[in-house]
Amino acid sequence: MSDSRSTSSPDFTFRIDATDGQARTGAISMPRGTIRTPAFMPVGTAATVKAMYPGQVRDLGADVVLGNTYHLMLRPGPERMERLGGLHHFMNWPHPILTDSGGFQVMSLSALRKLDEQGVTFRSHVDGSAHHMSPERSIEIQGLLGSDIQMQLDECVRLPAERGAIESAMRLSLRWAERCRIRFGEQPGKAMFGIVQGGDLPDLRVESARALADLDLKGYAIGGLAVGEPQEVMLRMIETVEPHLPSTKPRYLMGVGTPDDLMRSVMRGIDMFDCVMPTRAGRHGLAYTRHGRINLRNARHGEDTSPLDETSSCPAARDYSRAYLHHLVRTDEILGMMLLTWNNLSYYQDLMAGMRAAIAAGRLADFCGETREAWARAES
Ligand code: GUN
Repeated sequence: MSDSRSTSSPDFTFRIDATDGQARTGAISMPRGTIRTPAFMPVGTAATVKAMYPGQVRDLGADVVLGNTYHLMLRPGPERMERLGGLHHFMNWPHPILTDSGGFQVMSLSALRKLDEQGVTFRSHVDGSAHHMSPERSIEIQGLLGSDIQMQLDECVRLPAERGAIESAMRLSLRWAERCRIRFGEQPGKAMFGIVQGGDLPDLRVESARALADLDLKGYAIGGLAVGEPQEVMLRMIETVEPHLPSTKPRYLMGVGTPDDLMRSVMRGIDMFDCVMPTRAGRHGLAYTRHGRINLRNARHGEDTSPLDETSSCPAARDYSRAYLHHLVRTDEILGMMLLTWNNLSYYQDLMAGMRAAIAAGRLADFCGETREAWARAES
């Protein structure tokens, strides 16, 4: 695939080309390629963006995918991955890869997990085997995978939670950020990002953001959101944190979200996102489109000969009737999952491209308004 986007840069740099209110558009450059921001990163947990070929993911406009330390350390294992040439080669994705550090997935997936100053101890959800991961080991594993953007190990607390639990998780995450930074050291062309924690408590969020900013990392994530709180709380936390993060560094909102979440977060200064929503929803019969979210399982689509979106550049949205998609979903056919995942990732990437162009043109608010109006028209 010829690819003008993969201009090589010997180091990791972030450039802002235009701003519109708090929103920014620009590019992160690194040796494996350029990430146009604001960016949506498809989730490729186990060395695959489920139900998609890597070339398809690329052709939709994705500049970077996300991999998970937790899953890949269990299977195939980091040392084996290194022997096999690293994650990019293994999954045939030569472009940038960001890896999450593992702590979040340990807490949501593994059994008998225990967390202390040293790190996390847990049993694998696959075979029950015992594992320990320190902040240093997380960075070491992400290095063995060959990840371009590595995340610090952190502790994320589900909301609602007591102040004491939120505070101690935030402070532990800060201490782990320092240990990760020391273990990561200097790696030209690669980056380690810190993760702001602090739940729904503004003073703790500010303390976390300021302390991480002092560590002078290459980028900053906001974690611990979309974990049970209402959208307005999430947006308020972004507004609280944003002024305390260096404006010259990328800001990444972890695990978010719906198309509406993405628009409202970009307006508040977020540059990067990842979420399982488009891929997972696609495997469960849900389509994200210009006309809003459509549940293909619903009987009303049984004889609907219209496609999901005749104006889309994605064949999955254009070339198959809703009746056919309804049939594939109802019969649990693999092709149904493939087509809906393809459509959903296409919609998410087009939404990001639309926002990037709107920021450059100084009309992001209008773009978001028009996008929401089209969803509302389809519902009425
Ligand atoms: N993914 C979604 N939220 C989080 C978080 O708070 N921490 C990490 N490491 N990953 C996440």
